[in-house]
Order: sequence, then structure tokens, then C-alpha cells
Amino acid sequence: MSDPKPLAGRRVLLGVTGGIAAYKTAELVRLLKKAGALVQVLMTREATRFVTPLTLGTLSEREVLVDLVPDAPNGSWTRHVHLGRWGELLVVAPLTANTMAKLAHGHCDSMLTAVYLSAACPVLVCPAMDHDMFEHPATQENLALLVRHGVHVMPPEEGELASGLVGKGRLPDPAAIFERIARMLGAAAPEDRSLAGRHVLVTAGPTVEDLDPVRFLSNRSTGTMGFAVAAEAARRGARVTLVTGPTSLETPAGVDRVDIRSADDLERAVRSVPDADLVVAAAAVADYAPVESSDRKLKKADDDLMLRLRRTPDVLAGLGASKRAGQVLVGFALETHDGLENARAKLERKNLDYIVLNDPNETGAGFGPDTNRVTLLSREGGREDFPVLPKAAVASLLLDRVSAPR
Ligand SMILES: Cc1cc2nc3c(=O)[nH]c(=O)nc-3n(C[C@H](O)[C@H](O)[C@H](O)COP(=O)(O)O)c2cc1C
Repeated sequence: MSDPKPLAGRRVLLGVTGGIAAYKTAELVRLLKKAGALVQVLMTREATRFVTPLTLGTLSEREVLVDLVPDAPNGSWTRHVHLGRWGELLVVAPLTANTMAKLAHGHCDSMLTAVYLSAACPVLVCPAMDHDMFEHPATQENLALLVRHGVHVMPPEEGELASGLVGKGRLPDPAAIFERIARMLGAAAPEDRSLAGRHVLVTAGPTVEDLDPVRFLSNRSTGTMGFAVAAEAARRGARVTLVTGPTSLETPAGVDRVDIRSADDLERAVRSVPDADLVVAAAAVADYAPVESSDRKLKKADDDLMLRLRRTPDVLAGLGASKRAGQVLVGFALETHDGLENARAKLERKNLDYIVLNDPNETGAGFGPDTNRVTLLSREGGREDFPVLPKAAVASLLLDRVSAPR
């Protein structure tokens, strides 16, 4: 079995600068902490406009340092020198063109740039910016200078950039940066097989209720959250069945996918997988479907059209009613008001073990965005509020919690 804490006690300084990819650092911090590392985050002032010190401070369990001179100097102003000696590795991810220029030319106007100049340890930088900024001779010369100064560089990847352009400039995935860090610290990246031998059923995406061959009732679910859970469960070694409504997402590696359209289809599909050890029901299931669905296109008339809708089967309640001993059932609640009370009531009414609450009106949460902010409620009365995180990181934290022995 691989070591679950390959970086136990290793001291990592993590610099974060003001690029759009700064949000990915949250996942990197989580991976480092999970591997046992001590992580000191250093942010530029601009970086705090992209991701909050609260998020990175919570995940790293340490105060995030920004300014070189603290607001209330208390004798700790030489901290940069101590930190430069404390770290076994300084990683700057993402590295903006601006801070790259500063590092290359020895500027010292923030805790990050000061620690860089004082660092006695190896330095790894991960530049990320728009393609044209990266290719500019000024940036390339600064990067070459850093390499001459002995800095290790993880080059940006080709792909779609936040600007909408396609080219070289993307920050590599946090998992890839983590692996590079682990290698530089002489440790093998941990392979998490904690769900090996377990069967995980995930439902995802919207359901679609047809009115006629061209019209339907549906919702805004993109399936991203459920797909992230399925991907993470498969990475941890589980056999994963993903039952999904229509979405444009690609099937994650190692996942068995079952495509459905309506709430009735979904109910049939989950009933055919009774043996799952863990069920994560993230699909946004229609509560109502048209009583009649026409196989011919409805013709327009001069009068208003009345639609009669019927209740669809309550898939989650059905799963709760047929839950077998040892099975863990996790539901999702998307609530726009009275979220906590509604979610707790749903958890009890439907015989769930956990419920994941999110509010689509909150910035960075709900349908669509690549991030989510959720609260996890447990049957035993527990409550945990997570900060805004990439959905992959949310999936990972949720699986940590719901698959832990109870
Ligand atoms: C929305 C937005 C996204 C940005 N993304 C990047 C980026 O990915 N890379 C980069 O080098 N600069 C980017 N910038 C520009 C930097 O934020 C700007 O140069 C800033 O001064 C960097 O400060 P810092 O290096 O001290 O963190 C972006 C600016 C904005 C407004």
C-alpha cells in the first residue's frame, strides 16, 4: 500500500499571485495538506482579489501572509528571513508576468518577493497568463533570467485560456503541480485507493421531460458536480456507475456511464443498481412532468395553452426507503431560501445519511460555475461549511467525509 502521508511534516512555502488561475491553488493546498505537508501561503495583494486569504488560510490552517510590513508591527517584521530558511521548497503557482518580472529583477515589495530573495531552498514557479503575454520577449527574457538563477519552471500548458483565446498559458492541473512538488521533495505522490472494492452510484445532470418532439421542461443543471464526484471516486479505486441526464461533459476515466433523459428513466436506472455501497444523488430531478407527451409537434392556437403536470417519482425518497444496511446515501439540496431548515428536513424525510446544501444565488455556487460553496449536514446533526472551492476539490472533500468510518 502507498504511503497516505508522503509529505508528512515537509515545509512548503506556496506563493500565489494575481492571475485568474489563482482559484486552482485552493486544490493544491488541499492536496499538500492531505499528504501531510505544512503549508505557508504567501499571497500578493492582487492575488487576494482573485481568491480570499480566508479560503487559503482555512485550507492551509495557517495565517496567510501578504504584506512585508504588517499593519501592526510587533517585532515580527523579519519573518521573511525566517520563512526563507523555514521552507524546504518555495512554489509560486500561478506566477503572473508582473511578479515574474519582479522576481527576475530582485524587487522586494511584498512578503512573497521578500521570501523569494531570502529563500535558501529550491524554487519552483508555474507561470500562467494569456498566450501573448507569455510569448512576449519581456516575459521570455524574465523567465530565462529566472532559469539562470536556478529556478525550476513548470511550463504552462496549451489550451483554452480565460480570455477565450487558445494557446500556451494555462496553469497545469493542481494534481500535476503536486506530483512535481512531491518529486522535488523526494517523495512519491500518494496513490489513494481508499474506495477500492466499493461500488459507488452517482446521479448527475438535469432530467428532461418532453412535451412534444421539440419542446421539453428541464433545469439548468450542467452535471459538473456529479461528474466531479464520479471522477474522484474512480480515482480512489471505486467501481463507479454514473447515471446522468443530458450534458455535454465527457465521461471521466474508469466510470461506467448510463445515459437517461426523464425522471422516470432515472428511477428505473437507479433501481437496477441496488448493490451500491455509497450513493451520491447529485442529479437535478424534475418534480413535475407533463401528463401527456405528444409524439407530434403541438400546433399553435389562438388561446392560452394549459399544461397539466404530474408528480414524477421521488427518486431520492425511493433510494432512502430501500436503503440497505451499511449503504450510505448522500443527497443534494439546492435551496434559495431557508436552506438549512429545508435541507435538514429533507435529510430526515428521505432517510439520508448526508445532505449537501448549496444556494444558486451565492457567488461561485450552484449550477454552472466551476466552483461551488457547500454546507454538509449529517444525519447525526453535524454541520460543516466549506469555502468556495473548485468542484473537483469539493468532490474530494465530500468523499473524504462521507466515506469515513462512522
Ligand atoms: C481578470 C484578470 C485576470 C488576470 N489574469 C492574469 C493571469 O492569468 N496572468 C497574469 O500574468 N496576469 C493576469 N492579470 C493581470 C494581473 O492581475 C496584474 O498584472 C497584477 O498587477 C498582478 O499582480 P501580482 O503579480 O502582484 O499578483 C489579470 C488581470 C485581471 C483583471
